[in-house]
Amino acid sequence: MKTESNNQRGAWGSRLAFVLAASGSAVGLGNIWKFPYVVGENGGGAFVLIYLICVFVIGTPIMLAEFTLGRKTSLNPVGAFDQLKPKSPWTGIGYMGVLAGFLILSFYGVVGGWTFAYVAKSISGSVLAFPSPKEAGEFFGNFIGNTGEVLFYHALFMATNIAIVIRGVKGGIEKACNILMPTLVVILFLLMIRSLTLDGAMEGVAFYLTPDFSKINGSVILIALGQAFFSLSLGMGAMITYGSYLSVKENLTSCTVYVVMFDTLIALLVGMVIFPAVFAMGLEPTEGPGLVFSVLPTVFADMPMGHGVAVIFFLLLAIAAITSGISLLETVVAYFIDQRGWDRKRAVLIVGLVIFALGVPSGLSFGVMGDVKLFGMNFFDHVDNIASNYLLPLGGMFTAIFVGWVWGTKNAHEEIEKHENKFHFPWAQCWEFLIRYITPVAVGIVFIAKILP
Ligand code: TRP
Repeated sequence: MKTESNNQRGAWGSRLAFVLAASGSAVGLGNIWKFPYVVGENGGGAFVLIYLICVFVIGTPIMLAEFTLGRKTSLNPVGAFDQLKPKSPWTGIGYMGVLAGFLILSFYGVVGGWTFAYVAKSISGSVLAFPSPKEAGEFFGNFIGNTGEVLFYHALFMATNIAIVIRGVKGGIEKACNILMPTLVVILFLLMIRSLTLDGAMEGVAFYLTPDFSKINGSVILIALGQAFFSLSLGMGAMITYGSYLSVKENLTSCTVYVVMFDTLIALLVGMVIFPAVFAMGLEPTEGPGLVFSVLPTVFADMPMGHGVAVIFFLLLAIAAITSGISLLETVVAYFIDQRGWDRKRAVLIVGLVIFALGVPSGLSFGVMGDVKLFGMNFFDHVDNIASNYLLPLGGMFTAIFVGWVWGTKNAHEEIEKHENKFHFPWAQCWEFLIRYITPVAVGIVFIAKILP
């Protein structure tokens, strides 16, 4: 077994680099593709409010717990739990995380491939040729059913991922995120200005920001919590892995606050881009998963400089997907490097190829394998369901229990306060209370509610 001395591991070059990389992991398709459509489907402002509560009360404490586990042990999720409670069943949380990384990246890579394809198709202008979202939606449906195209872009996405992660933490992941994350923020701001200056934009702003509490019920809360988990990259040890490359000098609490703020700001910004545009075009916000791929191209087609805006938007989506994809790949790769002693190159190539192969049936789920269904769901839906609805919440809940009760908040506190960093009153007490009582119970409720018929 290899530990800190393993020279394959590497480390972040600076705190900013770490914050950008962890934000890069958090900010992804979850923010730009998923957040707007779940907000649209669940009533707008009220959902946003519940989502924010979930982020701050449940997501933030778990993120700090994951960073602390990673930094304490300098190891991947399996190694981290094993080092703190050797040969105990708790190591299973780590294995669950590595498995979740495998599964999530396999379908995330497919959707990532779609975003790559839409960059190409917006450059060529083919996605802009439709007068209404209905036709744009049909175009999208045809595209995701086209075996050759889907596999080509899926392979391209995974190859990009591999090319970055193979260069290691500092040379690859850090460099990519240093450039890509600020680009993303600039592009989003430009798009927001464009969107807000459309005629009728304010109706969208009102839908987005005015909470209508009659829209809130149990299932809305569950969806909000699940979205918070996915968006913040929690529950599978991705943040343990990224924390493991962080120096003891750095302040874990402020890093957590930065990453949470960043992820949340981006999601909120994306809403400010999408809803004003959707309402200005007289479209419905309840369009579902096709919102970005079928509604937006029509929006762009109808707007001045729409061609350029479309290219920029899909580029942004692709960038966000890549910086998240690399965190998923890195988590699995770190396991093979630390626990199995593989060198980075071998780990990245083998893991990357296996994940690509596992993704192939997901990629074909909207085409030639569309009729292959079990319990009414295709392959893609099953993988997504197992990973996102089971492994992530379970992983998050057990991580909270582990840090709150098994390893103990006292040890965590010590790690957080290393190198004269202070975890001040009342924040430390607040975190301790949340991670021991509120977080495990809340996630437990979500999980049980999800598995009940
Ligand atoms: N957070 C990313 C998004 O919003 C997806 C993601 C990356 C993720 N790494 C993760 C989700 C780890 C859960 C766990 O798109």
